[in-house]
Formats: sequence, C-alpha cells, structure tokens
Amino acid sequence: MLPSLVLNLHRFHDYLATVLGATGGSFQARGPPGMRFLITCDPENVRHMLVSSFVNYPKGEEFASFFDVMGDSFFNADGESWRRQRTRVQHIMSASGLLGFMARWCRDKVETGLLPLLSYMEDNNAPFDLEDVLTRFTFDMTAMPVFGVDTGRLSTDLPPTHVPTAMDAVMEVGFFRHTVPVSCWRLMRRLKIGPERKLAEAQPVLRRFVDEMLERRKKKKLKGGVIISEEQTAGSRAAPDVDIASFYMDDPEYVDEGGEPREFLYATLINYMVAGRDTVGATLAWFLYNLIRHPRVADAIRAELAPIVAARKLKSATAADDTMVVFEPEETKPLVYLHAALFESMRLYPPVPIERKEALAEDVLPSGHRVRAGDKILISVYAMGRMEGVWGEDCAEYRPERWVTAEGGAVRHVPAHRFASFHAGPRSCLGKDISVAQMKCVVATVLWNFDFEVVEGHVVEPKLSVILQMKNGLLVRAKRRRVVR
Ligand code: HEM
Repeated sequence: MLPSLVLNLHRFHDYLATVLGATGGSFQARGPPGMRFLITCDPENVRHMLVSSFVNYPKGEEFASFFDVMGDSFFNADGESWRRQRTRVQHIMSASGLLGFMARWCRDKVETGLLPLLSYMEDNNAPFDLEDVLTRFTFDMTAMPVFGVDTGRLSTDLPPTHVPTAMDAVMEVGFFRHTVPVSCWRLMRRLKIGPERKLAEAQPVLRRFVDEMLERRKKKKLKGGVIISEEQTAGSRAAPDVDIASFYMDDPEYVDEGGEPREFLYATLINYMVAGRDTVGATLAWFLYNLIRHPRVADAIRAELAPIVAARKLKSATAADDTMVVFEPEETKPLVYLHAALFESMRLYPPVPIERKEALAEDVLPSGHRVRAGDKILISVYAMGRMEGVWGEDCAEYRPERWVTAEGGAVRHVPAHRFASFHAGPRSCLGKDISVAQMKCVVATVLWNFDFEVVEGHVVEPKLSVILQMKNGLLVRAKRRRVVR
C-alpha cells in the first residue's frame, strides 16, 4: 500500500474513506517492524473497542509519546491515572457556576469581540481568513475558564497568534509521528529537523504561555479560595467565580512546596486548552463553510431564529434599530434545525478525524478481523461519517434533515459508536453539552448578522493534522445583513 499511501497523503482522510468503503469498513496494513495496523470505520468494531472491550484498547505508551507536551495528563493517560483524572475533570466541570459562566462568557465574547471584528473586516472591504478569526475567538473563549484571564486575541489590531500556532504545531507533528516509524521521528527530534523542528520551537512557547497566564492569574485577589478577578471587581457580568486552574493549585502532585507549577500542571492546563479550543475552532469553521455552500440550510436556520427576534421586538420599542442581534444560549438551546445542521457538519467534518488505540491482548473484532497484542488500531471517524452503509445513499450530501425526527420536533438520537465525533464509551467527551450550547449560540448570532462569500478560486481542504483544521484557512468576504425587524 505504501506507494498509493504516499501518493495520496495530501488527501489522507478522503483516501482512507475510499479504501475503507472498498474493503467493507476495515483493513489491515503492515509497515516496518512494530507498525501493524488495523484501520476501521465499522461501527460494530468501534462499539467493541470503545465500549464493550474498552479495557483491551487503551491509547498506549506510543500514543503518549506522540503528544509529549501533554505529558501524563488525561489526553495521554490510560488505566488508573486516566480514571482518577477523568473523575476530577467531571468534578470540576460540575463545579457550581463553571458551565453557566462558560456559556455567558462565550455569548459576551461574541458581542464584544467577534461581531466587532467581523464588522471591522467588512469595513476593510478585503478578504480575510474566517478560520483565523474563529481560532482567535475560541482561544479567548477557552483561556478564560481555564485561567480566569482574557487573552484578548480578538481585537482589531489582530495581535500575534504565536500560542495558537504552537498548539497547531503540536497537533500537526502528532499526526506526522503516526505516519513514520518511532525511530525515525525520534532521530529527527534529536536533530531538530523537519516537522520536529517546528515542535521544538512550539514547546517553549506553550510553557511561557502557561507561566504568563498563571502569573496574571496570581495578580488577582484571592478571597476565601474564590478568585475575584479585576473584571469582577469592576462589575462585569462576565467574570468567573472560579477557574479551572484553581482546582489544581493546592495539590502537591501539580504544584511544588514553593507554589511553583510542576510538569503535570503545565501538561494538564495545555490539555484543557487543546480539548476546548482546537475542537470548537475546527467545528465552527467547517460549520460556517457548510452554511456558505448551502444557502438553503442557512435560510432555514434564519427562519428558525426569526420568531425569537420577532418576540424581542414585541417586548422592546427600540428593536427596529440597526444594532446587531445577539442570541442568548437559552434561546438557541431548544432550536432543533440549528442543532441538526451542526451535527450534520460534524458528521462530514469531525474535528478529531482519527482515534488511535493499541490492543493489549489478542482479540477478534465483530468484523472477523483478528488483532494481535500490540497491534495499533486507527479508527477513522471521518470515513465513518461518509459510509453509505451507515448513512444511506445520500451520505456525501450535507442534509441536516437526516437528523430531525419524523415528527420534526426533536434531534434524532444516533448512538455514539455510529456518530463518534465526541468519541464513545467511558472516554467520551466531557465538554459535549457545553460546547454544543456555545456553538449554537455563536453560529446563530454570526449567521443572523452576516452573509459570507468564499473568495473565488480559494481551495478549502483539510490539513494533515490530528485536528481537522483547514489547510489554507477559509478566505471570505463578509457583508452585514440589515434585516428589517
Ligand atoms: C466541538 C467540540 C468538541 C468535540 C468535537 C470534542 C471531541 C472530543 C473527543 C473526540 C474526545 C476524545 C479524545 C481522545 O481521547 O482521543 C474528547 C475528550 C474530551 N473532551 Fe471534548 N470535544 C469538544 C469540546 C470540548 C470542550 C469544550 C471541553 C471542555 C472544556 C472538552 C473536554 C473534553 C475532555 C475533558 C475530554 C477527555 C475525556 C477522557 O479522556 O476521559 N471537550 N472530546
């Protein structure tokens, strides 16, 4: 397979989808010693590995070495360490006020950062990279709950994005390490050449970022274990009662006797940034891209939003002015078609397109394939979303209606082993509900207030990375919609 893989590397995910489509959903591949792969997108295999035989399919030590910047944190961990960390994350996410704050902060950031920047881009009357704008937005949106600090990447002077770029490098090099023998990338790492050079430059940037955030965080007043931020003292409704870092700051596993961060703390905080920023950023970019390409769907979403705007007009005499509409998370939460359009985009463009596991013991998969202990498993979530056997003959079409129940009143339930964009089983995403709520609110507001047009000739295609970002960004022009309300 090697020659055909090399020839198709630039379109890796589509190539895998084609091969998996032609092989009934699974195939085995052999590389140099130590590279025995089973590649699958068969939902029954996925259920077996991620749910029923979960303990036999950890991520494995090799996986952890691919993402060394995230050390022993929950993304890399297996077994007891992963279980303990996951319980802790669950506890943090359910801590009083955190999810509510995340929803409010996102909504406020749309109003005070994202909409003004899009207006500024429109006034400039020049094409701009919408993916870059969304990356800035999700970076600010994630850093605040993690550190309690506003990183301010969304301002119109477009401050440098070396930290998001360093995060991207971690994911690109992580992908590269999947594709070559371990000895090869280790040698390149030692010599600091090729993609490994990019990672070597990224690591200190991320470390300095965490140091800077912790320093800024420290400057805030601590009162009874609760962080009182500058913003809060100033009376902003967007200030957090509690941030994620505060849950780790008294723990000797994460902080030394002098209060200095240990490696585990750096790794864990970077892990939170990656979990929140990279996934949401990629999803928003593909979602808006799909809406630009399918005006019928964009119009249907606007039709679903129109009654909310009309109801507001009834309540407020000033509603007919030219101000932009910002939707509240509570308003967009119940919207079924918007939700369906989001999931349809995530089906075709899952932000985490590949999951990797390693078999602990020999096993036979539901597809009949035999795996040996140590075999690497690649689950192509991207291909699964494009399989005719799973989604029907129109699987290549962007058609949100497939997600709406026959009665039309609800989003159809699809089990996670068939729609694995948020993973499935014991390791499934802990940020699913909050991120869905946030993304619905963001897209509703952006779509209500703006029309976009992709610049002619601009090619949109996935980058080779562990996160499904766009290789060339998303070059668009924006135009304010002035809706007579
Ligand atoms: C579009 C939005 C998101 C998508 C598609 C997504 C997807 C995923 C996926 C595929 C995994 C499994 C990764 C793996 O182990 O290989 C995961 C895990 C996780 N996600 Fe999300 N995620 C999203 C947003 C978020 C957000 C906003 C947060 C929290 C702020 C979050 C927190 C987590 C955590 C803590 C895990 C680790 C679970 C574990 O290892 O037990 N996610 N997510």
